[in-house]
Amino acid sequence: MKKLTEEDRRKLAVSTQLVHAGRDPSEQHGFVNTPIYRGSTVLYPTYDDILHRRGRYSYGTKGTPTIESLETAWTQLAGAAGTVLLPSGLAAIVVALQTCLKAGDHLLVTDSVYRPTRELCEGLLRKFGVETTYFDPALGADVEQLFRANTTAILTEAPGSQSFEMQDVPAIAEVAHRRGLCVLMDNTWATPIYFPPHARGVDIAIEAGTKYLSGGSDLLMGVVSANAEWFPRLRKTFDLTAPCAGPEDAFLCLRGIRTMALRLREHESQALHMARWIEARPEVHQVLHPALESCPGHALWKRDFLGSSGLFSVLLKPASPAQLAALLDDLKLFGMGYSWGGFESLVIPFDCATYRTATTWAPPGPALRFHIGLEDLEDLKADLDAGFARMRRVV
Ligand SMILES: Cc1ncc(COP(=O)(O)O)c(C=O)c1O
Repeated sequence: MKKLTEEDRRKLAVSTQLVHAGRDPSEQHGFVNTPIYRGSTVLYPTYDDILHRRGRYSYGTKGTPTIESLETAWTQLAGAAGTVLLPSGLAAIVVALQTCLKAGDHLLVTDSVYRPTRELCEGLLRKFGVETTYFDPALGADVEQLFRANTTAILTEAPGSQSFEMQDVPAIAEVAHRRGLCVLMDNTWATPIYFPPHARGVDIAIEAGTKYLSGGSDLLMGVVSANAEWFPRLRKTFDLTAPCAGPEDAFLCLRGIRTMALRLREHESQALHMARWIEARPEVHQVLHPALESCPGHALWKRDFLGSSGLFSVLLKPASPAQLAALLDDLKLFGMGYSWGGFESLVIPFDCATYRTATTWAPPGPALRFHIGLEDLEDLKADLDAGFARMRRVV
């Protein structure tokens, strides 16, 4: 088998890239996969070598073949200049923000951001002298009106966590770059397969690898990729604190990345089918799924995204807590729990009303977020159908 050159790799379709990225059997005795390297100490053969830190690896925190294999694969997938791995998605958000902020800076964050990111801004960044303003995700280029002299970065997330508002990321990036701001994006929902972040103007992209990269609900992983302008600063920030991901988790993510395009395609079609089925139910007020024509962000999704994933939300017509419990408590296939991106279907109740500051969240009834897994669609519909029937019986 001949080695792929960098030029070969660039020409490959995404699904082919994912099969080959970040591994080189000729460097691992012919074995297909990069093995798990565990280790802190790396030995240098001579005094001169250690004096000049000569050699590909220098110490466990600076990288191992397993970590590097996943970083390289992700860099290729994301169209980035480089990638670092963190032990969770939230840790990835921390390092991404640390890379572009300092005391005295002002940060703009979409009001629809993943809630723990908001808590990070208020609970930690504020303590270190960074002030955050939350903006309406619908603003697009008008977000410029919120720029201050000390605004240095803008954090987007599309679609928004739980509420699925879309954002015009290329327009935001254009006005932000005119002022020299760093544009960040939490791209976990689409992954680089369905939204190539750096090609759309994002400088630093975050992915909770815990979700679709893993695909197994069995690990935590954070991934941050950056373009050529920002990668050296990202790597330096990482090296200063060394929040390293574990080698077994990196290995499992390498296993995950090989099937990621295939799994996403299946999550996409399953979720679209379920979203349309749920939308037609009499108990439902609205389905928030950007790939549905009825969703307010649909035009932006269609213009900028290459596909959709398995996560969407549903706004029910008014229902009492007892009715909601009747729907959710006895579901047999939909588990109730946080996170998503695994093979299994999930549902959680949510309410953004108490913490949004730039937008109002006031749906007519309770809200549910669904993740559609890889189960048979008829089985999933039967489970929900029985739940809705239980709900109707409660008065
Ligand atoms: C959009 C988004 N970003 C980031 C994270 C954080 O990932 P982790 O759970 O690995 O910290 C999550 C987790 O649910 C998420 O939904």
